[in-house]
Amino acid sequence: MNIGLIGSGGREHALCRKLYESKICKKIICFPGNAGTANLAKNIEVDVLNFNKLLKLIKLHKIDLVVVGPEEPLSLGIVDFLTKNKIKTFGPNKYAAKLEGSKAFMKRMCKMNKIPTANFQICKNRRQVLKFLEKSKLPIVVKADGLAAGKGVTICQNRKKVLKVSEEIFKGKFKSSKKLVVEEFLTGEEASYFLIVDKNNFKFFGSAQDHKRVGEKDMGPNTGGMGAYSPAPIINKHLEKKIIEKIVKPTLKALRKKNKPYTGFLYVGLMIKNNEPFLIEYNVRMGDPECQVILPRLKTDLVKIIIHSLKNKLKKISIKWRREKSMTIVLCSKGYPGKYRKNVLIKKLNSIKENGKDIVYHAGTKIINGKLLSVGGRVLNFTSIGNDLLKVRERIIKNVKKINWKNGFFRKDIGWKILDKK
Ligand code: AMP
Ligand code: GLY
Repeated sequence: MNIGLIGSGGREHALCRKLYESKICKKIICFPGNAGTANLAKNIEVDVLNFNKLLKLIKLHKIDLVVVGPEEPLSLGIVDFLTKNKIKTFGPNKYAAKLEGSKAFMKRMCKMNKIPTANFQICKNRRQVLKFLEKSKLPIVVKADGLAAGKGVTICQNRKKVLKVSEEIFKGKFKSSKKLVVEEFLTGEEASYFLIVDKNNFKFFGSAQDHKRVGEKDMGPNTGGMGAYSPAPIINKHLEKKIIEKIVKPTLKALRKKNKPYTGFLYVGLMIKNNEPFLIEYNVRMGDPECQVILPRLKTDLVKIIIHSLKNKLKKISIKWRREKSMTIVLCSKGYPGKYRKNVLIKKLNSIKENGKDIVYHAGTKIINGKLLSVGGRVLNFTSIGNDLLKVRERIIKNVKKINWKNGFFRKDIGWKILDKK
């Protein structure tokens, strides 16, 4: 089977590797991929939001199955478009992708189906924001309604900030929407819970905890993710039952009722407080870097799982996981998530011996004239697995240091909440 993979991050390199390992997979084409996927697949440079152009390439390369990594093409309806053109595509339809693409849609759905989430108000103007401020305690979280590349959420400690951030959104700071959601601040511990979903069923697809803040001890501005570990120890069987009964099942039922059933990977972003789950967000894809810690633990053939899902036969497949734990540390360009230099040479990457327990996933990398260059903020993901996460972290840090990339930085404290208890 020829497989097309859409995306260019660490998540896609991790997906690419699992697709490559599958006995069913003959060749992989990445649109556009990165320097890591180039070793396993053919990379084709294309604007993945130009669906017509993409379709031509998919036909040209006789692709039998398309797997979509990132949220933007999903939100713009790539699955509907390709499916209509008779291309098997794995991911949610455009309507279901609104779970991530519109915070207002997601919160409304929570309210209608009594799904536990932070109290909120959808606002189109300042008056509505003021009304919410009157009855709510600080801090307050302001969220742009539409996709905002991880920059749409601000935790505000005072009213002035709430009004300032809201005003910017109303004025069109984010092209995707001028609406916003204001909501109460939830305390507790965050965890990400993943599922693979078909029209009738769903299966557990790993859990993880990531570190979104750029600085150690979770300080500083938000990023796409600086590192993660899997599984998330906070998610026990009892809690998992609550997540499924109170959050997942009502959501999938609501979409089925609209005749727009969810299919694909589903990322359930949670806040856990006193052993109770609250939904913070849905993402309609695998997480990045969560995918880089979850997939190395997967034992079952990924292509086989995806095919079962597309045939609505997930119930018939048993998904097996390695018992070992995994961790990823992301090596970033200095300056990220702000301004950073591009096209900086990365040397000595081949000094790291990949052996199934230590893996390097590329993200913002490119080979230009035979040289490996950084082209993004998050550049490389160092993943290792083992029984003892503290030792795993030590191994990763040793590996990161081997490449001695002067333009890079990384967090040395991934997993600190569970590993560095004093
Ligand atoms: P979101 O894009 O909705 O996941 O928000 C990004 C991050 O902001 C989350 O991962 C949380 O760390 C934080 N966050 C969002 N909403 C809340 C909330 N209501 N209370 C506390 N933290 C939140
Ligand atoms: N790591 C967070 C995300 O993928 O959205």
